[in-house]
Amino acid sequence: MENAKKGELVIVGTGISVAGQMTLAAKSHIENADIVFMGIMNKVGEHAVRKLNANSISLDDLYEEGKSRALTYKQMTDRIVQAVIDGQKVCAAFYGHAGVFVTPSHDAINQVRELGYSATMLPGVSAEDCLIADLGIDPSKFGCQSYEATQFLFRDYRIDPHMTQIIWQIGLVGEASLSVLDATHNRPGLALLTEILLEHYPDDHELIIYEAPTLPISEPVIQKVALSNLVNAETTLVSTLVIPSLGLPAYRQDRLAKLGLTEQQVVSFRNPTSITEGN
Ligand SMILES: C[S@@+](CC[C@H](N)C(=O)[O-])C[C@H]1O[C@@H](n2cnc3c(N)ncnc32)[C@H](O)[C@@H]1O
Repeated sequence: MENAKKGELVIVGTGISVAGQMTLAAKSHIENADIVFMGIMNKVGEHAVRKLNANSISLDDLYEEGKSRALTYKQMTDRIVQAVIDGQKVCAAFYGHAGVFVTPSHDAINQVRELGYSATMLPGVSAEDCLIADLGIDPSKFGCQSYEATQFLFRDYRIDPHMTQIIWQIGLVGEASLSVLDATHNRPGLALLTEILLEHYPDDHELIIYEAPTLPISEPVIQKVALSNLVNAETTLVSTLVIPSLGLPAYRQDRLAKLGLTEQQVVSFRNPTSITEGN
């Protein structure tokens, strides 16, 4: 019993480009673990992790065409949790930020904690972080909404076109079975997504299909496409869709009035001329 409680879990993100975006803390946990499980989906990244810790095992063998990813993720979670129960110091490394659109990382943390062991997740550099840098999008400018593409189609979300929209997993949009492993089945999903977006944006609104580089020597892929042509866009399993804002919404005069303010009195970072010396 005492032996069982010796186990512990640290979940780390490797960044999108493992060479360069892995934090020093993540590197140290990988180096010092008894065993490392890798959900990195990229051979170069796996190689980089194996160089830090020879006892690193890929979780990718659990993916199979036609098999539900829900089952794959459960099996990943089971492997990670079992190693902790076996008394090992376990590190699980997922690409990007390990907590962003990653089911087994959160499930493993919850299960390990419920069993009474220590479990921690460290932050990492996600695709969204790369996108902010490469596309120059500051979420503070217009606000930002972020969704999973298929959930966005199927559920009654309220889109605010004044905000930047980030739609993840566009390569699998509309794929309800969770058992497809390539981005060649998403045309009906893209067509439905276009229909929904046309309720809020003009058909010539320019969207961005973005891919962050996974190697430091590569450039980001930034594909601009008119909304009306989204259905013909080339997408991959690592494409993220960005829908730029239609612009800031109008001020709510009623709210300003409650604070005794007028629009002219609101100082904005983006309108420094409204700042006078001494303010
Ligand atoms: C399972 S999620 C993993 C996200 C990852 N944990 C992160 O922190 O970015 C996969 C989705 O993340 C986005 N993604 C992953 N890699 C990307 C990349 N290189 N460039 C842009 N988006 C990416 C895509 O939307 C993709 O469908």
